[in-house]
Order: sequence, then C-alpha cells, then structure tokens
Amino acid sequence: MRNLAIGLVSALALAAVVIYSKGVGTDKTSVEAGKPVVMPELTGVLLTGQAAYEAKCSACHGVELNGVDQKGPPLLHKYYEPNHHGDAAFVSAIRVGAPAHHWKFGDMPPVEGMGEADIAAVVAFIRAVQKANGVF
Ligand code: HEC
Repeated sequence: MRNLAIGLVSALALAAVVIYSKGVGTDKTSVEAGKPVVMPELTGVLLTGQAAYEAKCSACHGVELNGVDQKGPPLLHKYYEPNHHGDAAFVSAIRVGAPAHHWKFGDMPPVEGMGEADIAAVVAFIRAVQKANGVF
C-alpha cells in the first residue's frame, strides 16, 4: 500500500513537471496573465519596425501585439518565442502566409509589399516587445 502511494505521488509529480514544461497552466507570460503590455523604449530600426508593424500586422495581431478578436492571435505568447517560432518562421509567415494550426482564427494570408529590410525591422520590433513582456 505504501509503495502504491509513493508510486502515485511520483507519477503525479512527473505529470506536473511534464505539464509545466509544455507550458500549460502556470508559466504564462505577463500579458497572458492579464498584465498590461509594456512598450520598450524604441529607437532607430525598432521605430521603423513599429511603423511597418502597425501598417501591416496590427489589424490582426493588435497594436500592442496582444491579438484581435476574430482576426489573429497575440504575438506576446510563448508559441512565438524565438525557440518555438524563430525569425525564419516570421519571414515565412509574412512571405507565404501561415495555415491555421495553433488557433481558430483561420489562415494568415501572405503580407504583400514588404521588402527584406521591412521584414527584418518588424521582427526586431516584435522581439523587443516580446522581451519587454517576459515572453523570453
Ligand atoms: C489578416 C490577418 C493577419 C495579418 C495582417 C497578419 N497575420 Fe500573422 N497570423 C494571423 C493568424 C490568423 C495567425 C495564426 C495561424 C495559426 O492558427 O497558427 C497568424 C500567425 C502568425 C505567425 C506564426 C506563424 C506560424 O508559423 O505559426 C507569425 C510569426 C505572424 N503571424 C506574424 C505576422 C506579422 C509579422 C505580420 C505583419 C507583417 C502578420 N502576422 C500579419 C493573421 C494575420
């Protein structure tokens, strides 16, 4: 009986570790946890990136990257941290779009009219805001 209890406790502890490391539950970013978005100080290329972001992305992902109802997901989300969606995933989403797979918003269409410099600036801006909000 005692062994069974110990086994059960270990199994539960293991499950908790697995769930935690998969990011379900407690390890939300500050924004997912409902805190207001923190905007970092923006200079140079980050300001260029912000302008391009507002023109090309904010209608779906939100001016503060926290998503738009019925349109698109928050980019201040652990799904989009550099280890999960690296910069190449951003370039690809912009160039060829992204099929719906993490959310129920539908597909992201390709974003027209962005050159390489615009894309690099947008990604730098997004990473700066993610970092300021504890996404990574
Ligand atoms: C018309 C709405 C729309 C616009 C405009 C838009 N997105 Fe998206 N985006 C989406 C949706 C919806 C998804 C979620 C797809 C899913 O279910 O995983 C998404 C997903 C993404 C992803 C994740 C892609 C992947 O591989 O999972 C990135 C990165 C992204 N968007 C960046 C951007 C950037 C940067 C811009 C502006 C240059 C932008 N998006 C403009 C709707 C949009």
